[in-house]
Amino acid sequence: MAVRDRQEWKFFAVLPRADRRLAVAWWSALLLRGILPAVFAIAMGVLVGAVQHDHPLGGPLTLVGVTFILLQVLNPIHQAISANLGSRVAAWLNDRLTEACVRPPGMGHLEDAQLTNDLTVARDFDLGMTGPPMYLNVDFIAGSMVEMVGGLASAVVLFAYRWWAPLLLGGAWASTHWLLRESAVWKDRNTDQVQEAQRHADYAYRMAVDPPAAKELRLFGLAGWTIDRFIDRRKLLFELQYRATRLREKPVIWSVLIVVGANVVVFWTLANAASANRLDLARLVVFAQSAVGTSLIAFGGLNWAMDGASAPVAAVLKLEPAMEPAGALSRVGHRPADGLPGREIRFRHVTFAYPQAERPVLEDFDLVIPAGSSLAIVGQNGAGKTTLAKLLCRLYDPQSGAIEVDGVDLRDIEVDAWRARVTAVFQDFIRFELPLRDNVAPGGAPDAAIVAALAKAGASDLADLGTPLAKGYPGGTELSGGQWQRVALARALCSIAQGAGLVLLDEPTAQLDVRGEAEIFERVLAATRNVTTILVSHRFSTVRHADRICVLEHGHVIELGSHDELIALGGRYRTMFDLQAQRFAAGEYGDDDIDGAGEVTYESLT
Ligand SMILES: Nc1ncnc2c1ncn2[C@@H]1O[C@H](COP(=O)(O)OP(=O)(O)OP(=O)(O)O)[C@@H](O)[C@H]1O
Ligand SMILES: [Mg+2]
Repeated sequence: MAVRDRQEWKFFAVLPRADRRLAVAWWSALLLRGILPAVFAIAMGVLVGAVQHDHPLGGPLTLVGVTFILLQVLNPIHQAISANLGSRVAAWLNDRLTEACVRPPGMGHLEDAQLTNDLTVARDFDLGMTGPPMYLNVDFIAGSMVEMVGGLASAVVLFAYRWWAPLLLGGAWASTHWLLRESAVWKDRNTDQVQEAQRHADYAYRMAVDPPAAKELRLFGLAGWTIDRFIDRRKLLFELQYRATRLREKPVIWSVLIVVGANVVVFWTLANAASANRLDLARLVVFAQSAVGTSLIAFGGLNWAMDGASAPVAAVLKLEPAMEPAGALSRVGHRPADGLPGREIRFRHVTFAYPQAERPVLEDFDLVIPAGSSLAIVGQNGAGKTTLAKLLCRLYDPQSGAIEVDGVDLRDIEVDAWRARVTAVFQDFIRFELPLRDNVAPGGAPDAAIVAALAKAGASDLADLGTPLAKGYPGGTELSGGQWQRVALARALCSIAQGAGLVLLDEPTAQLDVRGEAEIFERVLAATRNVTTILVSHRFSTVRHADRICVLEHGHVIELGSHDELIALGGRYRTMFDLQAQRFAAGEYGDDDIDGAGEVTYESLT
């Protein structure tokens, strides 16, 4: 690897970006601490010389004392700076990662398999799962850099003895870095095997500690399995790391021979010079101490700590530029979105495949949705219904063809302006751990509008607007699945009241009881009468109320029309409807069913 591409530089370059003043203090303390042992050696020499020649001792003693005190005092100060700087580096990296995940306008970067792998590795660096947390790393590095500088400073002092002595001794100690280099860096840290072990360990760990997994974990007797799996993968990780970075016999023997040889030569000549009276005691003290001090250059903690600290830095810095294009949209539009859609939304020959997917979800897909009407989409699991909703939100752009809004390619419209026109209840809608008020209007809305939206969604009595919707917050409360769904519906209804023009409802009532569903759907229909509504549902009692129904199969529209038209057509929809009627007649759905279609789903009929 070229020297300038090495991860270590990236680590050092990040320090001042994380906190300039702390980084300056860190380096200053480091350099000062580094040269102090050499200064101390010289001070000792001066003191010994003064004693030998009966010179006044005040000056030399002060120098020795000050150096010694500085050595003692700087250590804890430097440690504190290191821990602080390390935490800031971790925070800086987390900020960058957050930005890299959140900034791209599309979401391809979060659904790309390779990037997801890298993300797992990068985001967990500070948990101490694959190495010490950053604040410890920076402290290790500080300590071992001090040694490195100290070794070099001692070597420099040796020049005053013989020009070749520091080169021989420094070179010998430095050679250990080259000889043992394989043990310094866990080069294979990013192999599939390591990443997989890490991901599995991480997954097992989360299963164990995340409350939502607790039910199935117990029910299916998976406690032992989870623990074993975690231990197994963690052991594998340690083993892989050990195998990659253990000290190997031959290089160690070579290192010892070289180092011992160089030291023997230097100390032998020192002893000779001293016994032949060519070197006075004071200088002998300085040079012998410096020769010992040069050993601080040796291979050791720095190499390991450096690797552990710079790998996450490199991982985060690598993800940033990789995520940007993966999450980018195919082009940046500038046209306004005011009043859209006013006439129609048209899918024109749209072909779309997910990144790395083998087959497209939609191929040459055509569909027109007149503005201000409601369209229900039915189709089997995996038919592409949610994908249509994602494309309409411009979370992805199609690979070919176009989605046009009032004749304008969606890609030419300013994306944020368009999104401000759209509201949705996604199948996996978000449950903010925030007060009810913010759950209904994350972007803000008058309380009156929030209360009205909650009422329409049948969620008036859930909680006060200020109640956090999560246990674990003071005064917080936990909602049931269906109650959450009402909150999500209220969110969409509130944004319609605030002016959204397109509503996407992906299974918005799947978790509601039958009676609740019929009642709420009436109100949703009333609220969405003047906006364009796209409703995905497996429940026919909901579907039949839409102006038009589209039957989706393998990424194509196979039937399209109103409920009555599709019944008259006698195709797939009719078949499903007849089957549903039969099942109802057979009494499979109970008296509670509002219109005989409550629990019949597309799946149960095809
Ligand atoms: N992020 C993704 N990456 C790759 N493939 C995906 C992704 N999301 C969905 N798919 C695939 O795209 C196809 C369509 O998925 P989609 O979620 O649109 O189906 P759906 O009609 O909403 O199904 P359901 O009724 O189960 O909600 C499926 O085959 C699915 O496996
Ligand atoms: Mg779906």
